Amino acid sequence: MDKIRIRGGRTLRGEVVIHGAKNAALPLMAACLLTDETLVLGNLPHLADITTLVHLLGQHGVIVRMDGGAPNGGNDGRVLALHAERITRTIAPYNIVRKMRASVLVLGPLLAREGTATVSLPGGCAIGTRPIDLHLSALEQMGAKVELKGGYVHALAPRDGLKGAEIRFPVVSVGATENIMMAATLAKGQTILHNAAREPEVTDLAHCLIAMGAKIGGVGTDTLTVEGRDRLGAAEYTVLPDRIEAGTYAFAAAITGGEIEVVGGRIEHLDAAVGALQAAGVTVAPTERGFRVTGYGRLKAVDITTQPYPGFPTDLQAQFMALMTLADGASMITETIFENRFMHVPELTRMGADITVRGNTALVRGAAALRGAPVMATDLRASVSLVLAALAAEGETIVNRVYHLDRGYERLEERLRSCGADIERLRE
Ligand code: UD1
Repeated sequence: MDKIRIRGGRTLRGEVVIHGAKNAALPLMAACLLTDETLVLGNLPHLADITTLVHLLGQHGVIVRMDGGAPNGGNDGRVLALHAERITRTIAPYNIVRKMRASVLVLGPLLAREGTATVSLPGGCAIGTRPIDLHLSALEQMGAKVELKGGYVHALAPRDGLKGAEIRFPVVSVGATENIMMAATLAKGQTILHNAAREPEVTDLAHCLIAMGAKIGGVGTDTLTVEGRDRLGAAEYTVLPDRIEAGTYAFAAAITGGEIEVVGGRIEHLDAAVGALQAAGVTVAPTERGFRVTGYGRLKAVDITTQPYPGFPTDLQAQFMALMTLADGASMITETIFENRFMHVPELTRMGADITVRGNTALVRGAAALRGAPVMATDLRASVSLVLAALAAEGETIVNRVYHLDRGYERLEERLRSCGADIERLRE
């Protein structure tokens, strides 16, 4: 297993080009199952999760071809042509789904197109129980019979296909919104999704489905209206830039008191995070190519609460906590999306942070002098928060189990090094 070694205390300066969003790319790839024509996706990040989904789609019968540059040119993201001419297998097996929860996004498309799907339950995951009950109950409202047997979801559509339905999600779920929106594009009649997720990744998926011929209204709002179609067709689509990656590099500039231009970053997708940075005394200003973040060495404590978009993203909570360990004053960080998303706390504490957790709130007493230490990556965002802390810490930090980082951050060490970080991957 690879490790990452960081020697802290360097001020980062430079620019980082943001890649396509992992969390947009995964549902877009699953959407290829909705048509027998080719879906070409550009600006896909080079990440382990993308490879896992290619593997899953391949065993459903999708022919995957890798092409050169992006369809509209202009960046070096990977292009994949996904062709699901015939679905040869409607089972998503445990050995793939367990690696990546987003695999469950094949359920809606398979069921809508083939009338049947058997998908392994994703099981527990490090950041909480993360059930899929909302996905399943929405499919039942569309007429599907759903059975849980042997760790698998067995779903069967009525003989003449899924039916449009009016569905009200009791809590906002990104995955459920995506799965059901995809299923609804091929259902009979109209589906209305109330309390739908408004994340930019959901909007990206809606735009791609529309390019494939779907009829979707209310895009970007919490009420989506989908008119079912008999079939969808070919499309070319470019994945939007990753707002979580952009936010993470912005925080890297802030925590080291440096300056980074986040090239390709969409500041309008990061309102809550940018607001928190500004309140902490960091300057964030749009540029022609993205935005620039300037830190001044001292940070002020800021309270944040994670919320569905456009609130503060749960996927940036751990990284913001790393910043707050160094701020003047105390910061309250409240996590409302996932119940067990403070696994970075004991590791940050090992580096000298002063954090008390009560329920879903962490009280971070700032102004810690962080010291390098051997730490353990536990999940994707938790791991990168340790990297951020290490950049600002005195001495050497070794981050173990970096495969978590590789699931979501492409060439992280290379890109931080280009801004002046002393960071190195130790291969085993
Ligand atoms: C997606 C993102 C993830 C991000 C999360 C919240 C992808 C691949 N992953 O995950 O990075 O952290 O959104 O922004 O895009 N819930 C239920 N029942 C369900 C579904 C969800 O109770 O059937 C709950 C979850 O336990 C959680 C909340 O709803 O408390 C939000 O989860 P959801 O938005 O579905 O997260 P994901 O789509 O899994």
